[in-house]
Amino acid sequence: MILVTGGTGYIGSHTVVELQNAGYRVVIVDNLSNSNIEVLDGIRRITGIRPEFVEADCTDMVAMKALFDRYPGIKGIINFAASKAVGESVEKPVLYYRNNLNTLMNLLDLMPEYGVKGIVFSSSCTVYGEPDENPVTEQAPIKKATSPYGNTKQISEEIITDVINSGAPFKSVILRYFNPVGAHPSAEIGELPNGVPQNLIPYLTQTAIGIRKELSVFGDDYDTPDGSCIRDFINVVDLAKAHVKAVGRMLEDKSEAKIEIFNLGTGVGLSVKELIASFERATGVKVPHRIVGRRPGDIEKVWANPEYANNVLGWKAEASVDDTMRSAWAWQCRLRERGIM
Ligand code: UD1
Repeated sequence: MILVTGGTGYIGSHTVVELQNAGYRVVIVDNLSNSNIEVLDGIRRITGIRPEFVEADCTDMVAMKALFDRYPGIKGIINFAASKAVGESVEKPVLYYRNNLNTLMNLLDLMPEYGVKGIVFSSSCTVYGEPDENPVTEQAPIKKATSPYGNTKQISEEIITDVINSGAPFKSVILRYFNPVGAHPSAEIGELPNGVPQNLIPYLTQTAIGIRKELSVFGDDYDTPDGSCIRDFINVVDLAKAHVKAVGRMLEDKSEAKIEIFNLGTGVGLSVKELIASFERATGVKVPHRIVGRRPGDIEKVWANPEYANNVLGWKAEASVDDTMRSAWAWQCRLRERGIM
């Protein structure tokens, strides 16, 4: 059995689907602080299985012990549970350090006691900051974090490394995500941002459906071909499948290494303007947008070299950008049908 913390969230829910499709039994723990219990129905409609669910806060050690007592078969953990809004983290740093670090430390503390063999950790390309060269390999230098959110990812990677090096009786895989976008092709699950979206795609789809008046493109005076920032937009289902590979690798002891780090991206950098064009082409829906000033703290360009994940993890991003854009749009339309947005 696999424990998925934050399993009702955006990437978590897609990963639970792929784990169940691959035959794993799953228990989700989530405090529903940024997600919805109905996600479980979406997962059931896709896979035919409603995962086990515990509503608890992973920073609550007593609740987490109770969870492991109740599910003694947990062999692996995928840790998604974390706060992830960059701007909010600048305003509420203690909340971010507490949530993200205490969650991780509780899990690392409990794993040996309950015989858990490995933990997959959700990290981010934010650890590379503004990279010196693109595409970025796992060997690229780690740059000083520019937000408390980014710092929690760096510190978490260091904590895991120290714990593994101390001789802990388990393994870890650290996955550095580039920019996850899109939704399950069934439109049963997807991203459900709280309030005004800060990330590009939810803002774009909300604009396309008329919830927002226009999308602001933050800057077109960057040193890139069209002047807008460049990212590596990775389909969330592809991303989810990488987690299944990572869990299998840990539990089946396919590697000698006790800790491994993989970049998860497509290997292709796409500009913000190109992504908008792709959305409009793929869906036939126009997105009102306007160039505005740069957003403080934004990285100019970053995309992955995913060869290590391709060759060693045996995983490759497959979805086309247009299909990913269609999935994001289908999800936004489903939210409208259900009267949610
Ligand atoms: C950010 C974080 C990243 C985090 C991710 C998920 C930084 C440097 N990176 O990624 O660590 O994992 O969010 O929360 O903070 N854009 C617009 N208009 C919008 C929104 C975005 O033009 O309304 C542009 C941004 O300027 C950027 C690109 O779209 O160039 C992607 O932005 P976003 O989706 O917020 O992701 P990142 O900033 O790349």
